[in-house]
This record gives sequence, structure tokens and C-alpha cells, in this order.
Amino acid sequence: MKTPRQEVEAIVAATAQTLYGADVSAGPYVRPCPDTRHGDFQTNLAMVQAKKAGKNPRELAQQIVDALAEHSVFEKPEIAGPGFVNFRLKAGYCAAQTHARSQDQRLGIEPAAQPLKVVIDYSGPNIAKELHVGHLRSTILGDSLARLFRFLGHNVISDNHLGDWGTQFGIVILGYKRDTNKERFEQDPIGYLEEVYVRTQNASKTDDTIREAARAELVKLQAGDPENVALWKSFIDHSLQSLDRTYSRLDVKFDYTLGESFYNDRLPGVVKTLLDAGIARETEGAIAVFSDGTLPQKDDPFIVTEKGGAFRDNPFLIRKSDGGFNYATTDLATLQYRKEHFHADRVIYVTDSRQQMHFAQLFATEKRWNLGLNLQHVWFGAILGADKKPLKTRDGGTVKLRALLDEAQERAEKIITEKEAERAAREGENFVPKGDDQRRDLAQVVGIGALKYADLAQNRNLDYVFNWDKLLAFDGNTAPYLINAYVRIRAIFRKLGSEAPPVERLVLAEEAEIALAKKLLDFGDSLALAADEYRPHYLCVYLFELAGLFHKFYEHCPVLISEGETKTSRLVLCSLTAQTLKTGLALLGIKTVEQM
Ligand code: ARG
Repeated sequence: MKTPRQEVEAIVAATAQTLYGADVSAGPYVRPCPDTRHGDFQTNLAMVQAKKAGKNPRELAQQIVDALAEHSVFEKPEIAGPGFVNFRLKAGYCAAQTHARSQDQRLGIEPAAQPLKVVIDYSGPNIAKELHVGHLRSTILGDSLARLFRFLGHNVISDNHLGDWGTQFGIVILGYKRDTNKERFEQDPIGYLEEVYVRTQNASKTDDTIREAARAELVKLQAGDPENVALWKSFIDHSLQSLDRTYSRLDVKFDYTLGESFYNDRLPGVVKTLLDAGIARETEGAIAVFSDGTLPQKDDPFIVTEKGGAFRDNPFLIRKSDGGFNYATTDLATLQYRKEHFHADRVIYVTDSRQQMHFAQLFATEKRWNLGLNLQHVWFGAILGADKKPLKTRDGGTVKLRALLDEAQERAEKIITEKEAERAAREGENFVPKGDDQRRDLAQVVGIGALKYADLAQNRNLDYVFNWDKLLAFDGNTAPYLINAYVRIRAIFRKLGSEAPPVERLVLAEEAEIALAKKLLDFGDSLALAADEYRPHYLCVYLFELAGLFHKFYEHCPVLISEGETKTSRLVLCSLTAQTLKTGLALLGIKTVEQM
């Protein structure tokens, strides 16, 4: 179903066609009115057209108004300022549209007419290490985008590009072989491997023999030495088990987990292909992709411009002078695989901002290679502590993701217990306390939901300051607030003893009803915006505004004590609001509960 915005856009486009001929496309000319007192939507079409034709914009605006004076979607449009035309949706149109959505499982969101094959590459931790807070954003953002694109009807493949190969394994294998405390490994494999890694890595900094020994272990691993390969495999198995526990707490799933090592066999072939095609060339024994001069200097990722304007090469290294391959080679091979095996149309990478150069070079290389993929780097900023520096534990260590999730749940449980005590005081004898399991389940939904939402609600390109009190607050732009709004609506239906009864039509009379209905109709716009820009925070903004309008409506418009069509219409508004909140939160990977 068309959203009101799409509806107005189509009408304006058709009008432009009639009035000015075929060359005007209206899409970008319609936007929500900056001030809703003047209308819901606004077009600057008259001004654009007046400029083109050297005419008076207000006169052209008048033509548009005359052409659209009688319309089922909006009241007679009004001219504003230098030549804007403002549209106010008719209550009848809003009522009919809301009614239609309330009868549709998908809330009026039609699946994409041309579904794309979209590979989404997120999380991708380097293994033999525990997940830490730095992995949160990629995991959460990527998961939300996967849910969103899937809901919009695309064919999504989520792939966890694990860092399961590379120099760190020489160090881990060496450390493991030298260490005798195998009991630790049995108890906490990943914690142990991480310790061994850090210890050996630090030792290698001052001791060349350790560095050499680690390199020798790596060479043996790469050459297929059975003992080292077996160790590496067991490290990976243990890591995967530990990762899966955290992913399942986060309710994050992957269709594929193809780590870097999966592409090892392809690497020599990729380098040869790029050499043969003249895309890469040799340089001091290494092989790299250089600028081919076709891009403007400022957009050319193979060049860095220095202060003063001088520039130098910034090659994309795909084979080191010792013959080894690297991160770039693997990503090129991965692209080739995703094209050949998944028939991907688009690949979306979700990583932190520090990898922007890598992906700019990778994408430019892919263009020259002609794989014909649409590639997107969805990058994000850092999570900061109260001191505005990257978040650390009190003693300056990295914050383990596991610990963060534990704390989210503990804090949520505490808040829920407090709220329960308040309610007990209010309700006295009638109060029924929750069981422990119920309280824990609730704390998991609220705690993990709050953590996810705090991340997704940010414009991803910005750093944000992590704050427990803020993200767990029941008022404000938080998951607890939205989950609570959903719970309150569900309480209405529990009191009613049934869901909203089916109705022939909806009547909207009160301003608060119409405002809520209009917001409900915008759901599709928020999804499109979030997907087009790979920014789930647009959906968060939408849900927050929706919940706010619902509260206003609920304050002004009694539901259960009203009667007749007013009551049934209000019940439909309540029900559609609940469904929209639930669906929206689910697209952010956040669960809802029926009762708090
Ligand atoms: N393992 C990488 C890291 O920890 C992230 C992988 C991102 N995906 C990719 N295809 N390069 O930084």
C-alpha cells in the first residue's frame, strides 16, 4: 500500500506531467511539512518549474492548487511562502488507509517488486579472542539490516566473515604448546587462548627468538602440518561454541559463517587474474593495485594527497613480498565467491570507521574487475565511556561483550524488581509477584533490548557515550519505553477480554486520533529510509514518535468507556499501534513482552 507521502508524490508527479509535460519527476519535490500546522506534505514543484520557465512561482502554484482542488486524498491545497503548495490529508482518507492496514498481516508494507540478492557481512570477529564491546555495533547493526531487508522482501544472506586465519595463529599455537596449564583450556578455552595470545605476543616484542618461533609455527600451519592444523581446528571449534552462546543471547543468527580461511585456495588465482587483467602490478617484489588515473584525484583511493597538494601512491597490497596473502586478497576472493555462488546483487559490509580506506580500495578494485556488484560500506563510530574515550573497564581493560550482556540483564532485573515493589505498595493484597523465572526472562528482553536499542538509535556515523541509566530509562527514546508502550496497549485488550473486533470502517474525529493514524501510515516511509541509508535509527525515531502520539491519544481519547463506532475505531488504532511497535522492534532485533 502506498504511504501518504508516496500517494502525494504520485499525484504531484501526475499533475506535473499534465501541466508541464513528461520531463518532470516529482519524487524529490515532495517532503513532509516542516510545520504540521500548515499541512502534512509540501511540494516546491511550482518554484522549480518557475525557475526553469522564467515564470512567477506563485502563479504556477495557483495552477497546481486549481488542478488539485477536489481530491479524495487531501483537502484543497494551500499556497505558502514564495510558492510552496501544502497538502493536508483528509480524515476520511486516513481512516480508510488505517483500516486497510489493520486488516493486513504485513501492515501495508508490500514486499519489493524486484527482490535483490543481498549479502550482509557483519560481526566478523577475529577468533581465539572473546567478543568485546567493539563487536557490538557491527553485530547489532548488521543483524537489524538483515531483518529489515528480509522484511522488505529481499533475498538476504547473512555471512559472518570470521578472522580465522593469519599471523595471530602462529603466536597462539606457540603459546599453547609452551604452556602447561591445560586445565584452564578445558574450563574456559577462549579466555585461556586470549591470555596465551596476549602473553606470547607481549613476550615476542622483546624476544626475537619468540617472534621467530611464532613465525615458524605459522609457516608450519600454512604448509598443512598435521599437528598445527589440528590445534588450529580445535581453537576454531571452541571459539565458535563460545561465539554461538553470545550470538544466541543476542538473538543474532547467520546463514553462513565462512571465515577468511575458507578462501585460502582462491587467493593465488585471484592475484593472477588481477595481474593478467592489468589491474594489479608488481612493486618491489610485492603485488598491488595502483591508481589507473581514471578517478578524480580526491576520489581516488589509490592516491593520498598530502598537505600542500603533493600526492603519492597508496597501493592496495594483495600479495606481500614474502609471497603471503593478506586481508585485501581474502576480501577480493570473498567477493568473487559471493558473486559466483550466491549470485549476489549487493554486498553490505558493517565495520567500524577505521576500515573506510580498505573498503574504498576494495570497491574501486571490484569496479575495475567488472564483477558488477553494488557494494556498500556501512561504517560506524565508537562507543565511548563517560570520559569520552573508548569504553573500558574500570581497570582500563577491554569490556567483554559477555560481561556487558550480564550487566544489562542484572540492571534490568533490579529495575523490574523495584517497579514490582512500587506496584505491590500500590495494589496491596491484590498484588501477585512474578516468579523468578518470569522476572529473569523479562530482564533478558528488557536488558538486551535496551542495549541494542541504545546502539541502533544513534546515527551510526557518530561516536556515542554509553550510559546505563539513560538506556534503561522507562521514559525517553529507549527500548524499555517502547516495550512498555506495547505492554500498556496489550493491557487494554486484556481488560477488554478480546482483540479488536472486526469493523466495516473507521471513524476518526479527534485531533489526537488523526495524528496517531497519520503516524501509523508513515511506517513504510521510515522503513524505506532506514533501508536506503542503512540507518536503523530512522526506524527508532519513528517508533519513539509513534509511542508519543499513542500516549497523547490515550490521554485524550478514552477507549474502553467509549461506545459504538468511536470505541471500535479506537480499538483498531490501539491494535495497529501495538502491531506496528512490535514489528518495528522486531526489525531492530528487539523482543516484546505481553506483560511487565
Ligand atoms: N575481521 C575483521 C575485523 O575484525 C572484520 C571483517 C569484516 N568483513 C570483511 N569482509 N572484511 O576487523
